[in-house]
Amino acid sequence: MAMPRSKIAGIGKYVPQQVVTNQHLTQYMDTNDDWIQERTGIKERRYAHRTEETTTTMGVEAAKIAIERAGLTPADIDFIVFATLSPDYYFPGCGVLVQRALNMGEIGALDVRNQCSGFVYALSVADQFIKTGMYKNILVIGAEKHSFGLDFSTRGRNVSVIFGDGAAAVVLQPTHQANQGILSTHLHSDGHSAEILAMYNPGTHANHWVPQPVAHFDEAEIGQMFMSHAMIDDAQNFPYMDGPAVFKKAVVKFPEVIMEALAANGLQASNLNLLIPHQANLRIAQYVQQKLGLTDAQVYNNIQHYGNTTAASVPLALCEAWENGKVNPGDLVCLAAFGSGFTWASALLRW
Ligand code: ACO
Repeated sequence: MAMPRSKIAGIGKYVPQQVVTNQHLTQYMDTNDDWIQERTGIKERRYAHRTEETTTTMGVEAAKIAIERAGLTPADIDFIVFATLSPDYYFPGCGVLVQRALNMGEIGALDVRNQCSGFVYALSVADQFIKTGMYKNILVIGAEKHSFGLDFSTRGRNVSVIFGDGAAAVVLQPTHQANQGILSTHLHSDGHSAEILAMYNPGTHANHWVPQPVAHFDEAEIGQMFMSHAMIDDAQNFPYMDGPAVFKKAVVKFPEVIMEALAANGLQASNLNLLIPHQANLRIAQYVQQKLGLTDAQVYNNIQHYGNTTAASVPLALCEAWENGKVNPGDLVCLAAFGSGFTWASALLRW
């Protein structure tokens, strides 16, 4: 029998209850609703409960819905791929925490660290396992709790106003139907700009979190290794982003990776029923739409209500579009993402 394709058999989303409007953010930083809406399209975002919700708990809620909609129980899942940049722990990853939370068997659990393109990368990894016949029911999750680690002072406003919390998940299964499933995925990276959108600490690049006298370092070196108050005062524990530089690269790479997916399948932009671009900035999505000559009905955006939820953004938008009846059997859907790394990716699928 021919190699199967992967289909999305179930999809679910979870967003925390707390709605944070642009106006709300003006309490902490010098910003305003007009600036945020005009530059990004964002009206509001969700923030997780400070202590009771984590990236994993949100991912688990989304996963439960995806599994149920696939007509399965957690016991049927045979592999987990979890994409996030805001894990519960530095290690281990969130995948094993999902395995525990859902009382699954001793199945494999993999974490993907590709930021905004994390979900499309994760989907691609799962797709390869399905195609080779290795696994039959793979749970793919994208989730973020950004609100825990943003700089809410005016210094951090260019980053903080953009990000929101949320989660979404899909269950991938093999299909032998001719006109269904993931047609192709396309993954790219360019590490030359790694530092222009990054959170540097904690990390092994230069600094060290825990002050300890260690034999092979001298006193002066140890002094350099602490995450010092000066570094914290200097915002080195928060994400850094050169927004305009990211914007310029994004508007080139988004159309490129979408066209790559279409060309690989002998299709054109006009064939697309729905493009789900990563929700980084409404202006980026609108630029991409214009560049590809797509109508409003061919592009789904929901950044207005959730902000940029990084690894959750693509499946959150896909789930919402599906729930609103905008994704139907046989539809040609393109998922595309670009972000920190830089990494960018696309997946073309027939629903
Ligand atoms: N409120 C009010 N003013 C602000 C704010 C704010 N929240 N943030 C910045 N400003 C000010 C700046 O200080 C600057 O003022 P100045 O002209 O007096 O110096 C002015 O607004 C313009 O700032 P820019 O940073 O040039 O604004 P820009 O129009 O580029 O918008 C933005 C910034 C929204 C971040 C945009 O650059 C962007 O969306 N970039 C891409 C983001 C992205 O795609 N990220 C990838 C995904 S994220 C990931 O992978 C983790």
